[in-house]
Amino acid sequence: MISVAIDGPSGAGKSSLAKRLAKELGYLYVDTGAMYRAIGLYALRAGADPQDAAAVLALLPGIRIELAYVGGAQRVFLNGEDVSEAIRTEAVGMAASGVSAHQGVRDFLLELQRRLARTHDLLMDGRDIGTVILPNATVKIFLTASAEARAARRLAQLLQKGQTADYDTVLADICRRDRQDTERAAAPLRQAPDAVLVDTSELDFEQSFQALKAIILARV
Ligand code: DC
Repeated sequence: MISVAIDGPSGAGKSSLAKRLAKELGYLYVDTGAMYRAIGLYALRAGADPQDAAAVLALLPGIRIELAYVGGAQRVFLNGEDVSEAIRTEAVGMAASGVSAHQGVRDFLLELQRRLARTHDLLMDGRDIGTVILPNATVKIFLTASAEARAARRLAQLLQKGQTADYDTVLADICRRDRQDTERAAAPLRQAPDAVLVDTSELDFEQSFQALKAIILARV
């Protein structure tokens, strides 16, 4: 099986690029952030503090996460409920970042992620795919961009969706999430030694897409 691991900070364009690459290459696209978001959403609904390891771990036995592919697009189910849209808010993103710091939460999702890679050619994006989940991935890419470039893109996305947002708040959120994701003890965000670094700060979507496609095709 072919596996392409794409890791990087939030807002670097991993999911939109991985989606388009998966379509082009005929691989499955697995968005692991969506799994953490589903757990974050569950914690928020349960009134649990995402940062509180004991509180979050106590919820896990009541959580079932499933992925389904509808027309090639990943849908995430939380205890049978399709939460694919509900998980896309900034609040759930922050809760996902909180719950993902707990080792028990990571262990909970590890087997599901590895099982997908055993049975499909795929592109999997996240924070620890090349370092922990798929250390033997066929191709590893570390996709990043400056915090300012990521904030500008995120702001444009939010405004396009009709949400109200301002640049300074979006930038502060991105920096806080970067800190949380890179400074945690459990599977912190970092570049695998054998990952190819791609910085998209100065690249538009099409240029980023072509850069990643060339890297993948040179290795599969
Ligand atoms: O990629 P995203 O914004 O949907 O991810 C939400 C949060 O989940 C992110 O802040 C960190 C966490 N995450 C993780 O710890 N490991 C992954 N493989 C994917 C996401």
